[in-house]
Amino acid sequence: MPQFSEELLEKIRNAVDIVDYIGKRIELKQTGRNYVGLCPFHQEKTPSFNVNSVNQLYYCFGCGRGGNIFNFVMATEGVAFPEAVQILAKQAGIELPNIPPERKAYQEKHEKLYQVNHLAAQYYYRTLRSEVGKLARSYLIKRAINGSLARNFYLGYATTEWNGLLNFLNENGIPVELAEEAGLVSQGKNGYYDRFRNRIIFPILDYRGRFIGFGGRIIGDGQPKYLNSPETPIFQKNRVLYGINWARQSIREKDSVVVVEGYTDCISLSEKGITNVVASLGTAFSQQHAELLSRFTKNVIIAFDGDAAGARATLRGLEVLNKAGLNVKIANLTSGMDPDQFARTHTLNEVEQWLADALPYIEFLIKKTISEYDLQSHAGKIAASKEIISILIKLDSAIDQYEYGKYAAKLLLMDENVLLYELRQAASANNAQETPTSRGKFLHIEPQNRYTIKDLPPLTSLSIDMEEPDYFLETNIMRLLLDDSSLLEEMLENGLDADCFTNLDYRHLFNLLSQGNWDKHGEAVAEKLFALPVPAGSWNEYLQQFKICIWNRALNKIEENLVMMENDSESDFLIKLGNLIKHYYRVRRDIFLIREKGNLKAH
Ligand code: UTP
Ligand code: MN
Repeated sequence: MPQFSEELLEKIRNAVDIVDYIGKRIELKQTGRNYVGLCPFHQEKTPSFNVNSVNQLYYCFGCGRGGNIFNFVMATEGVAFPEAVQILAKQAGIELPNIPPERKAYQEKHEKLYQVNHLAAQYYYRTLRSEVGKLARSYLIKRAINGSLARNFYLGYATTEWNGLLNFLNENGIPVELAEEAGLVSQGKNGYYDRFRNRIIFPILDYRGRFIGFGGRIIGDGQPKYLNSPETPIFQKNRVLYGINWARQSIREKDSVVVVEGYTDCISLSEKGITNVVASLGTAFSQQHAELLSRFTKNVIIAFDGDAAGARATLRGLEVLNKAGLNVKIANLTSGMDPDQFARTHTLNEVEQWLADALPYIEFLIKKTISEYDLQSHAGKIAASKEIISILIKLDSAIDQYEYGKYAAKLLLMDENVLLYELRQAASANNAQETPTSRGKFLHIEPQNRYTIKDLPPLTSLSIDMEEPDYFLETNIMRLLLDDSSLLEEMLENGLDADCFTNLDYRHLFNLLSQGNWDKHGEAVAEKLFALPVPAGSWNEYLQQFKICIWNRALNKIEENLVMMENDSESDFLIKLGNLIKHYYRVRRDIFLIREKGNLKAH
């Protein structure tokens, strides 16, 4: 089933003019039929970004990016095709048909929560700029946050009153239950009261610029220093990156992101000119953070102050990012400053230099590990080498092992050949011990016996993720696969491989199973799966359903591409069309084959 009908897409294209839409986002000048401006996708000084009003396409002669209005929304909003359609339809006031009622209710609830947060942000914003905000303003000035900077980040102020926001929302017709659900007010013995009082308010927006929550800093000293919105349907700390809405364009352009811990670190770096900056709000990095970041770039510079970057929780978080395929570097501050203070006391050049000197994750880990031992003592050196080997052994590539082995040997003040020899010894011992002898014999594994639980990376994605529609099905499939290795063969025979899973943990586990490999992450995923009851349905049912899901995904993708291509330039049109048709027939053939197989089984 195509997700959107051709008529609908056509209707949207007709309703939203591309020159209009793009013109609201970047400055365009008309030259004949074309409009030109500075490309939003790369940094340039002379405009090479063209928007054509006749064929409703855009193209940049500088970076080669181009497409129709859907492509533009996908690229600038960092969304997939269906969301791009939704965004444009909404703007054009076109109703999208066939949204399942529960999905619709869920969307409407979210919409309401964004609205009430937006309203609250306006209230706090005005309060900061009114008579009662005087002290708050002078506090900000003391922290080098002037008026225009505060405006850029929509900063606000919550007064000392217990019901300032409560009354304001009430006057604006917001039901108090909704305000409570948004985490703005709480219910006590004597009724509702404002959550944030006498605090500087930092509105938190998602990457699409919707108000999802708030951080409130106490003015001066006191506890807690920061109070944040509680978890709500639209505010989940393990998904939030403060500043992503302001930074994302710059993150794309620079193809890198600087991640700091605090609101003020983020604001100060941005003010200094490091605009590709976001803050993690002091929580550990999650798989969801990694996914959010990788929509915009793969290159992540973690800029924490010295103590924080070394902290155990942070290290585990960095491993999550690293494992998710991000290229992680660490810019450490050892001067006892945090990035906020550092930015305020150094020039842009110095700040840029500090970021450019960031150490790749593994190097950082090696350096930090070694610094914890006394290399002057024999025992210290041996213990340090052991821990280094346990780090190196986890690296996937032999080249990395070799290169980082040399790097570590130097820091350990030891002959690199000795360290590399030890590494090989350890690796072969490890292989003998850990590789399962054949596929499917995983029930014997008792991770507790080999690893302490705290060694395991946090498995955030094993919680139920509403954004992964095939989550339950994939879980059932993986659960059954673990019990019976012949099922894995069947999947491979059917052309189903790891990439068929949308869940990254399962993708990883499937890879391990099919290669007869094993690692800690895989074990942890398997362990969680084993804890689940065996699914009630039959394997064939699940497999059938899974295939249908995958084909539907493929068909949707083709459909999307076809839509994109309609407006494409003519030059490579035929090649693309040819490929698409081939793909189309391949999917059709697959569907045909499975039907036939199903019929055979039924007889
Ligand atoms: P920091 O204590 O480093 O905050 O915590 P900061 O940004 O440097 O604060 P200032 O400069 O003293 O104002 C880093 C982040 O951790 C979260 C906040 O998001 C903060 O920005 N945090 C910290 C809390 O959520 N609650 C707290 O009590 C403290
Ligand atoms: Mn600070």
